[in-house]
Amino acid sequence: MFRQLFLLEIVLGATYAQTLLEALSRIPELSNFTSFYQNNEAFATAYFSNESSYPITFLAPSNDAFTKYFEQNQASLFDVEPDALLQLVQYHTLVSDLKSENFTSARSTGLTAPTMLKDSRSNNRSSGVQLAAKFGGPERARGQVVFIQSAGQASAPNLFKLMNRQSSPQNAGVRSGLGSIVNLQALNAEQGTWDGGSFHIVDGLLTLPTTCARTIRNAGLASLDNAGNRTLIWGRLDGTKNVTCLGPSNNAFQAAGNPDTALNETELTDVILFHTLPEVTYSDFLVDGQEFKSLQNGTVRVRIEENDGDRTIWFNNARVIDANVLTHNGLMHVLDAVMVSLEQLNSTNTTASGTAPSGPSSTATDTASPSEVNTNVAAPREKVGSLYRILVTFVAFLLALN
Ligand SMILES: *[C@@H]1O[C@H](CO)[C@@H](O)[C@H](O)[C@H]1NC(C)=O
Ligand SMILES: *[C@@H]1O[C@H](CO)[C@@H](O)[C@H](O)[C@H]1NC(C)=O
Ligand SMILES: *[C@@H]1O[C@H](CO)[C@@H](O)[C@H](O)[C@H]1NC(C)=O
Ligand SMILES: *[C@@H]1O[C@H](CO)[C@@H](O)[C@H](O)[C@H]1NC(C)=O
Ligand SMILES: *[C@@H]1O[C@H](CO)[C@@H](O)[C@H](O)[C@H]1NC(C)=O
Ligand SMILES: *[C@@H]1O[C@H](CO)[C@@H](O)[C@H](O)[C@H]1NC(C)=O
Ligand SMILES: *[C@@H]1O[C@H](CO)[C@@H](O)[C@H](O)[C@H]1NC(C)=O
Ligand SMILES: *[C@@H]1O[C@H](CO)[C@@H](O)[C@H](O)[C@H]1NC(C)=O
Ligand SMILES: *[C@@H]1O[C@H](CO)[C@@H](O)[C@H](O)[C@H]1NC(C)=O
Repeated sequence: MFRQLFLLEIVLGATYAQTLLEALSRIPELSNFTSFYQNNEAFATAYFSNESSYPITFLAPSNDAFTKYFEQNQASLFDVEPDALLQLVQYHTLVSDLKSENFTSARSTGLTAPTMLKDSRSNNRSSGVQLAAKFGGPERARGQVVFIQSAGQASAPNLFKLMNRQSSPQNAGVRSGLGSIVNLQALNAEQGTWDGGSFHIVDGLLTLPTTCARTIRNAGLASLDNAGNRTLIWGRLDGTKNVTCLGPSNNAFQAAGNPDTALNETELTDVILFHTLPEVTYSDFLVDGQEFKSLQNGTVRVRIEENDGDRTIWFNNARVIDANVLTHNGLMHVLDAVMVSLEQLNSTNTTASGTAPSGPSSTATDTASPSEVNTNVAAPREKVGSLYRILVTFVAFLLALN
């Protein structure tokens, strides 16, 4: 009898159209958001019944997200200003219908997904050909993105990596602005379907992406911040569209002999521009052997290794230890080393094997988030010396170009 009722409910659920509010209100963990929706009914109904934006996927904040918001802001999410409300709701709305299979099938690469947030303060970037092709064209894919990866409990940032962990396939991490990561609980099709597409549960609010300078400071990348401050480069980078910032960690700066303090402004500017790409390079679209021309005009080459679904990415000699740290005009990948030029890499490969970063020097297991990077590896003395020589030679090479 119960079983029949249950089956009937599934059949009805699948057959009859239902609004987002109807679908949400069946999920106890979303009771706060359901009240929130009802409190803002005119706005929410207008927004979610706009069929020209369908299909969409809404990431609904759980009751835990409401609690966390209150603890962090000493204010209720119920009191958020109308202006901020629209942007928040837009950023929680992914274009296209994404089911849990879409997250699990992108397990090793992760999935960059555009949202409805298009305001240029949070979104001074363009979609690019690949994202547009995947998400219904340049206009549809124009909004700021989130990056989603099934990789364990994202609330423990060290588990959110470019690799697989044993984890329930229903769970994934969602990366948004300022390096923030929240957990996503993907609902199955019976629970998570409504007229406009799908919805899933997130256990924290997504953070709107902001400038590279603020993102770097927030991530504790003090050496890079210092380099940017000394060269007065933040204004330029933050006011440019489509930027990838390849950001060496504090340890990487230290291992390279603290170029942020050791070099003069001219040299340092070259180094930073070498670490800046005039394109947005989401990690799921990177392929092995791909090359980019940096703003300094030197070539940066991507290397990717896959091992049992674990994916490790290098830019020249430097390994990515935190990918897709989203900014308003692109993103940052945090690196474990200061990059050297390809020419320099080739010559050190033959002359100084052992110290040269000629291959995967370590496994992906010491991947860390930027705040953790600081305390990780203490570089051996000779290695510091040799990396410093590489850097000095690299700078000499730059100067020779001028
Ligand atoms: C949020 O949900 C919790 C648990 O169901 C409930 O105790 C609380 O009153 C709700 N808060 C609001 C503002 O609705
Ligand atoms: C409905 O959605 C479309 C496409 O996203 C948008 O251009 C339009 O402004 C929206 N209409 C309203 C009334 O919000
Ligand atoms: C999501 O999965 C469906 C079914 O497998 C597929 O057709 C669709 O292209 C996927 N969407 C994206 C954006 O990858
Ligand atoms: C931004 O990047 C896209 C894709 O890489 C490119 O097509 C577009 O021209 C770029 N826009 C600017 C202003 O550089
Ligand atoms: C860089 O400058 C900003 C703004 O003046 C400042 O807040 C920040 O602390 C500086 N960073 C470093 C590492 O000195
Ligand atoms: C966006 O980038 C353009 C340069 O492409 C710049 O002129 C503009 O000020 C930027 N806008 C914001 C809000 O950062
Ligand atoms: C920076 O150092 C280089 C080489 O050490 C030198 O050629 C250049 O003039 C210096 N630039 C400034 C602005 O001091
Ligand atoms: C890079 O090359 C272009 C021309 O190819 C030139 O206009 C630009 O000034 C160069 N940039 C640097 C930093 O050398
Ligand atoms: C470096 O070496 C590789 C192969 O050994 C070669 O394909 C590449 O062109 C070299 N790059 C430079 C910049 O010399």
